[in-house]
Amino acid sequence: MAKDRVVLAYSGGLDTSVCIKWLMEKYDLDVIAMVGDVGQERQDLEFVRQKALNVGAIESLAIDMREEYVNEYLTKALAANCMYENKYPMVSCLSRPVIAKHLVDIAHQFGAKYVAHGCTGKGNDQVRFEVAVQSLDPDLTIIAPVREWDLHTRADEMKWAEEHGVPVPTTKSSPYSIDDNLWGRAIECGVLEDPWNEPPEDIYTMTSSGYEAPAEGEYVIISFDKGVPCALDGEKMSFHDIILKMNDIAGRNGFGRIDMIENRLVGVKSRECYEVPGALAIITAHKALEDLCLEREVLHFKPIIEQKWATLVYNGLWFSPLKEALDGFCATTQEVLTGDVRLHFFKGSCVTVGRRSEYTLYDYNLATYDEGDTFDRDSAKGFIDLHGLPTRVWARQRHKMQGE
Ligand code: ARG
Repeated sequence: MAKDRVVLAYSGGLDTSVCIKWLMEKYDLDVIAMVGDVGQERQDLEFVRQKALNVGAIESLAIDMREEYVNEYLTKALAANCMYENKYPMVSCLSRPVIAKHLVDIAHQFGAKYVAHGCTGKGNDQVRFEVAVQSLDPDLTIIAPVREWDLHTRADEMKWAEEHGVPVPTTKSSPYSIDDNLWGRAIECGVLEDPWNEPPEDIYTMTSSGYEAPAEGEYVIISFDKGVPCALDGEKMSFHDIILKMNDIAGRNGFGRIDMIENRLVGVKSRECYEVPGALAIITAHKALEDLCLEREVLHFKPIIEQKWATLVYNGLWFSPLKEALDGFCATTQEVLTGDVRLHFFKGSCVTVGRRSEYTLYDYNLATYDEGDTFDRDSAKGFIDLHGLPTRVWARQRHKMQGE
């Protein structure tokens, strides 16, 4: 009888390689490996794909998800100025749903009943994969080998791998746990686990330190079309290419490093370092254009929506009704977000130094203190009388009570 099948999110690393063999042995399943290209640095996906077959997968697929990731995930994320705890532009939170979607598609394509991932039992990523898979197909069963097996240390895992014919890495492994994609890199573990330790320079690969950044700095103009980046310095470009270019520009100017204590959904505070040069610069520019084009009440209310959006997505609820409804709100606000923002990078900083739009709500004649002023000062007096009325009534009453 044919065996049942499982689709595994495969990275080519030790954990997920051991997962392949473990799923075959423990659950007697045929394994279909899937590696997703979401723009991570380690790009030899054909090698990774082949490796899964060598370990014993019956099928192995490398899928280019970059366009979809940019157009359907990062576009919505930017509309919501994606920022968890006001600091983290949500690198890993955003790639998980697109990977989960492909896991489910492949499960359907190959008639698999199971989906598996190599996340640990202590992080957010397990939640994101599993909740996303459940919301796309509640009938699939999820297996999380790393959470189930009792290979507690890397040495245990290496020993198991050797005994079961899984190739073990020959080079010394990095002390860090890294997850990266187009939108940036997350770095944790090793010496970073002591929140007092300054992050060593060698954890960073996308950003130079401010010390090495060019002394003259650099200007760049990002143009947006309905909220989506569409040109750099006047040259039309896809959002995807703009992210790549901005990673370079901001990165070489030392901008985009984050060192934070983060609250995980599973209740643990963790020390996380990120480098997100392009993402952070693009969000900075996007917000600057919103300042110019969004009406005051919308601009003041939007961060409430954004915060909820970020928490939902961080907590794995990308495919959920509230998140979709919040996307609707954000999308409405982006209709008027066409224009240009000029950024200046200088030794680790990124400052908005110009913004313009055909939808600008900045009215020179209302704002100016010079010639051409159209602001009606006379109406200010009546406005202040009524604006201050409730407070005046309250003050009179208080004075009366105090017997004055
Ligand atoms: N703490 C971040 C998050 O939950 C990053 C997770 C990175 N994952 C990893 N395997 N290093 O979004």
